[in-house]
Amino acid sequence: MAEDFLPIKGYDHVEFYVGNAKQAAHFYDKTFGFKPVAKAGLETGCRDRASYVMEQGNARFVFTSAYGPDHEIARHCALHGDGVKSIGLSVPDVDRAIAETKKRGATVLQQTTSVKDEHGTYVTGTIKYAGDTVFRFVDRKNYHGAFAPGFKPIQAHGPLPVGLAAIDHIVTNVYLGEMNFWAKWFEEVMGFSNLCGFTDKDISTEYSALMSKVMENGTGKCKFPINEPAEGKKKSQIEEFLDYYYGPGVQHIAMNSGNIYDTVTELRRRDIDFLRVPDTYYDYMRKRVGDVGEDWDKLQDLGILIDRDDDGYLLQIFTAPVQDRPTLFFEVIERHGSRGFGIGNFKALFISIEAEQALRGNL
Ligand code: FE2
Repeated sequence: MAEDFLPIKGYDHVEFYVGNAKQAAHFYDKTFGFKPVAKAGLETGCRDRASYVMEQGNARFVFTSAYGPDHEIARHCALHGDGVKSIGLSVPDVDRAIAETKKRGATVLQQTTSVKDEHGTYVTGTIKYAGDTVFRFVDRKNYHGAFAPGFKPIQAHGPLPVGLAAIDHIVTNVYLGEMNFWAKWFEEVMGFSNLCGFTDKDISTEYSALMSKVMENGTGKCKFPINEPAEGKKKSQIEEFLDYYYGPGVQHIAMNSGNIYDTVTELRRRDIDFLRVPDTYYDYMRKRVGDVGEDWDKLQDLGILIDRDDDGYLLQIFTAPVQDRPTLFFEVIERHGSRGFGIGNFKALFISIEAEQALRGNL
């Protein structure tokens, strides 16, 4: 087998560009249970932006806002609203990651950059992904400070986590006809392979449909499904995203939980809204999935979805969008052997998303 030219160790962080990073950080702290760990801003000598680093389990989110209007971050927010700018991937050698991906056709936005302070050296390099989204290669093995140079640790409250353990996968929506371009890009430029694909036959309802391909890296640590809209009678949820995000971008981030019942119970208590499926879904799934030792009444009570494939089963649930625009949302997923993405749930999910779209007048 050929050597993996891009040995990704995992997700390092996800950076969101938002209108008000202080309030976004507060939201992700008080609802999703992320603990603020580091901050950059005027008081740390950073004159153009404020950034908050939040952690839970192995997941790390960064929320960043500009201090003024004539700034790339402010323009990004004006166009896209709050959303994911950068997907940080942990690599052993940023120089090599940039060189190897560039050789294969990546657009390099930031060459390898080493920044030093008294805590060591932090190395990054950035390539373009779909729309205005980027992949940032990160090597922090020689850095021992708070996140990166320019950040100072926050002495925050003790963690009030909800049991989110890690990022499972990150999904991007692209325009009709672009899914195969990006699947090929992942194969050629990043050395990923296609884990599975769904066609509009698999994922369609009376009104809308989507096609999806899941790309996975060599170590299996990172999975990136890519969705494109398919023809439907009315506007699909993918088109709605593209209209309101003003282009391709990250549609949802799936987070692993070791106990989805407890996680969802706590998130509901903290007023996170989840998509609802009709009760008939559970009658249908009881037959499709059979007895896997889960409590069906509890699943239905909490609105948790279930799907089964040859390797095992999974439990999952999707939040409503987490900003005013119907764009980014989150998924909580608990895997029991299954490496899939809940294809059996897509149709049930579409029906419930369409019910919400109809309420917004976008169907
Ligand atoms: Fe997902």
